[in-house]
Amino acid sequence: MRLCGRVVACCISVLLVIICEVLLFHRHAGQEYMEKKDGTVYTHREQKMSGTASSENRAPLISRREKETEEHQQQRGHLRFDPKTCTVLPSAGVSTNGVKTPFKIYIYDLPKKFNQEILKIYEVWHARCYSFEFCGFGARLFNLESGVHVHDSHQFSLEVLVHHLLQLSPYRTLDPEQADLFYIPAYIGLQCLYASFDNVSATNKLINELFVYLQSQPYFASGKPHFSSLAKIEREMQSIGCCPYLLHPQSANITFLSIERETRYQSALNQRVITVPYPSYIHLDGSVTSRYQYLHSSSRNVFILLAAGTRRSNPYRSLILDQFREKTHLSYPEYTATNQRRSEFPMVMYITKECDHSAKYSTVRWMLQSVFCLQPPGDSPTRKSFYDALLTGCVPVLFPYSGQGPVWAFQDRLNFTKFTVTIPYKYMMYSKNNSVYQYLAELPVQHVESLQREVQRVAHWFQYSIPWGGADNAGGGDPVGEDSPRGGNIDEGGGSPWIHRKP
Ligand SMILES: *[C@@H]1O[C@H](CO)[C@@H](O)[C@H](O)[C@H]1NC(C)=O
Ligand SMILES: *[C@@H]1O[C@H](CO)[C@@H](O)[C@H](O)[C@H]1NC(C)=O
Ligand SMILES: *[C@@H]1O[C@H](CO)[C@@H](O)[C@H](O)[C@H]1NC(C)=O
Ligand SMILES: *[C@@H]1O[C@H](CO)[C@@H](O)[C@H](O)[C@H]1NC(C)=O
Repeated sequence: MRLCGRVVACCISVLLVIICEVLLFHRHAGQEYMEKKDGTVYTHREQKMSGTASSENRAPLISRREKETEEHQQQRGHLRFDPKTCTVLPSAGVSTNGVKTPFKIYIYDLPKKFNQEILKIYEVWHARCYSFEFCGFGARLFNLESGVHVHDSHQFSLEVLVHHLLQLSPYRTLDPEQADLFYIPAYIGLQCLYASFDNVSATNKLINELFVYLQSQPYFASGKPHFSSLAKIEREMQSIGCCPYLLHPQSANITFLSIERETRYQSALNQRVITVPYPSYIHLDGSVTSRYQYLHSSSRNVFILLAAGTRRSNPYRSLILDQFREKTHLSYPEYTATNQRRSEFPMVMYITKECDHSAKYSTVRWMLQSVFCLQPPGDSPTRKSFYDALLTGCVPVLFPYSGQGPVWAFQDRLNFTKFTVTIPYKYMMYSKNNSVYQYLAELPVQHVESLQREVQRVAHWFQYSIPWGGADNAGGGDPVGEDSPRGGNIDEGGGSPWIHRKP
């Protein structure tokens, strides 16, 4: 597909890969398309997006080394905007119309009740838990190195994040007539999160109103490709008693981006659902070309880390929790200071709690010291922590239930066996004597090193790049310096990162 080939040639954002997948969904399998990676042009048969693991030849559509369009750079050069509030300053005069791109996306200007007013509720409702400033990236926490930013990104920020990233994208058009794709910036997941079971009728009403609005738009009714994002996992976005969004018949004509899709559940109405990464804490700045010193230089003296809450959401998780004798709330420097005679830590559980102020600062630092980061299933099979692990160079260890695999983001494009370890269910459950430690300690050193190298290579795939270059003004300035004061809003969700429970 030529469209995507050209995307590849010009862009660096993982978001564009995602959009490309949306486009591919709409242009169906079997077409030839061009793909450019590190300056080489490939042609190959397009595969169905729903397939399983991939080969290296079906490489990522977009390489980090590839450059932005000149137009985009020029545009950024002129962009004066306030990242904290995500508003373009009046003097900016930015127009994305007229910028030449291979395709255009039109973003609906929805009535505020579908997005802005929902966000307003979060300014009050558990405000310390949710930070959606900085275009959905969340409050700035600190930098790991120049161009590598740690934000207070909430696991459920996808709707806000994708909306703003598209708004800032040169692929946006303000003219629907020019558009190849239409984006629906509704924050239904966030609505469901706060209304939850208490007021599903309010949620239902909002969903119905959304489709009445869309039906009144000529482009939706005429079947143009539409896409949108789901803040919560797919399973929870199609529940009658809480969030019946994907049960609405007209949702069948929308392609959704979702942080989790499970193969054992079919989408309610057979919707097209594309798995995308949970927003990790870590974000690279869009102009980075050769950084990631932090991934390479870190000396890792924690062999196995489990960063999670203590909630025993299922027996499998309990079994894994019980194998940890060292459990701590302390940050890595605090913990090592109290254990000064030790230079190595075979297994540490760093206990996180929802809305805990310290976890958002400490989780990343613990992971940077660790070789393996365990990702046991909880209420659902996947966790934000998986993406945090990759972005900190810690090899994720998966514990799939047999026959219940989730679909991973980009699993058709990257070979997951090269950068993750899967411990079979049978191994763990067969004998209480079998331990995670034993399994991982028996892996050959060369294999572990190869896993680590591959994690370092693919990590940038699993983050949402900061489009304004990390500086206060997109037009220039240095990235923010390191600051890591205590206090702030959110943590990664700990034991129950998928289902919101009221504190
Ligand atoms: C993925 O990588 C593994 C390990 O290197 C290899 O055995 C397997 O064949 C690869 N899978 C595909 C589909 O290329
Ligand atoms: C539920 O939402 C509706 C519509 O927003 C509102 O009028 C009603 O007061 C809410 N009910 C409760 C119990 O919060
Ligand atoms: C989906 O779009 C097609 C036109 O492409 C239309 O015929 C159909 O009614 C739409 N379905 C829904 C549920 O809106
Ligand atoms: C587990 O280990 C204990 C003590 O080493 C041993 O007595 C027992 O036979 C082992 N059980 C299995 C199933 O291997």
